[in-house]
Amino acid sequence: MDNTGDLRLLLASRYPLIVAEMQDERRFLDILRAAAAPAGLPVWVWTASRGLVRDGGDPQYGTADLRAALDSIAQVEGPGVFVLADAHPSLEEPQALRRLKDLAQDPRAGRTVVLSGPYRELPRELDGLALRWRLEPPGPEEMEAVVRRTVEDLALRGMPASLGEAEVRGLADALRGLSLAEAERLIHQATLRDGALSGDDVPFVRRAKADLLGVGGALELIATETETLEDVGGMDHLKEWLRLRGRALEPAAADFGLDPPRGVLLTGVPGAGKSLIARSLARTWGLPLILLDPGAIFGPYVGESEQRLRDALRTAEAMPVVLWIDEIEKGFAAGGQGDGGVSRRVLGTFLRWMQDRPPGVFVVATCNDVDALPPEMLRKGRFDEVFFVDLPGPDERAAIFRVHLSRRKRDPAGFDLAALAAASEGFSGAEIEAAVVGAMYRAYAASSELTTEEVLAELAATVPLSRSRPDDVARLRAWAADRAVAA
Ligand SMILES: Nc1ncnc2c1ncn2[C@@H]1O[C@H](COP(=O)(O)OP(=O)(O)OP(=O)(O)O)[C@@H](O)[C@H]1O
Ligand SMILES: [Mg+2]
Repeated sequence: MDNTGDLRLLLASRYPLIVAEMQDERRFLDILRAAAAPAGLPVWVWTASRGLVRDGGDPQYGTADLRAALDSIAQVEGPGVFVLADAHPSLEEPQALRRLKDLAQDPRAGRTVVLSGPYRELPRELDGLALRWRLEPPGPEEMEAVVRRTVEDLALRGMPASLGEAEVRGLADALRGLSLAEAERLIHQATLRDGALSGDDVPFVRRAKADLLGVGGALELIATETETLEDVGGMDHLKEWLRLRGRALEPAAADFGLDPPRGVLLTGVPGAGKSLIARSLARTWGLPLILLDPGAIFGPYVGESEQRLRDALRTAEAMPVVLWIDEIEKGFAAGGQGDGGVSRRVLGTFLRWMQDRPPGVFVVATCNDVDALPPEMLRKGRFDEVFFVDLPGPDERAAIFRVHLSRRKRDPAGFDLAALAAASEGFSGAEIEAAVVGAMYRAYAASSELTTEEVLAELAATVPLSRSRPDDVARLRAWAADRAVAA
């Protein structure tokens, strides 16, 4: 992931124009200076506030204007690296752009001009002249160094801050995706919260980070305050599978030689708890849950949708998260007849990412309409496993009643769970929950306590989907028979 070596090579080869996409200017300049030093290249930095300044020198008079600064650069003898920080607004101006082009097309001088900033798009005129380089987020070692340094600072100031090796790594991992300055700030914040820094602050740090990254657009941060995997009735096989995979997210698992898990695809009957699994999994693993809305990705211009998807995925992969794609078949539909192939290309972009993505992102995709699922989605190497969530069996139904009764302040021991399970044959988890809620309304209106009989009456009055549309369920089961594992 570390690409500072590339930057060193670009500078050493005197590449004339580099566009450095970055957010963290201080860290970028440190890295750039370190890359320029071995080649003995002096570094100049232009900012709109100070003008052009050579490292260790004074600002050049009258260079706050970019045009003047570029003229001044053209006068400098010999090789050097010239960083133009946040120059993009000034590049709207034709004269400045012209001068920049002239500099970039004069390779004899051995100058390298670096445009640094949060660049997304370049002026068309620079196409073919500029090479893009992106400042990667700090790697694990850099982050661990910051954690150690901050802990020492805090200890010096008398704060109870001491972390073991594993806790340093855990904290550094939680901070992944932030700039070093932001990381430092978050550690301080976590310490101030309760006057001490310990391994217990990791969940706080993860949450605060998700806020900081301001996941927006196609990504939405979902609150996962309540449910854990304990609140999912049944699905023992899937839950056990997930429990084992959760352990593999620990840093120690990589040392052990395990590949990090990548994700699951959940298919099944409606209301069986697929979305519930996604929510409760994130909570159980202590990771932020991020919902990717493929619908928000499609844009009117050529290539725009793919780019938006790439941006969204890149944001998501900056930190360990559970990335949830609900009803994936709708977002990445195989159809795409009338859209000039856009959905095909978006699907291709997504599948490539599924194959190559960095560790840390666990994808939970759910699917209701298996017929709309592109077959490519199911190929090996995409998801770790495809699960089929069927209607719950009798024991599972009893477990689901137990979950929903206790969630509504009722002691399940006071109910005849066997009778309820028997009477709810063919009911999905959502339908069982609805029956409990319906019975509670009745009990409350009648000023009576909730009883087994009340719930049985509610069940008797309900026609579950499996009875009203048996063909749908049969079709799903037939599809899953040789493509998915029972949850
Ligand atoms: N196995 C279960 N255990 C406990 N509660 C369940 C279970 N299955 C469903 N529920 C309840 O039903 C609600 C709806 O289920 P959920 O939305 O997760 O189903 P789904 O499979 O995603 O359905 P859909 O196919 O309609 O998207 C859940 O929020 C939960 O309260
Ligand atoms: Mg759902």
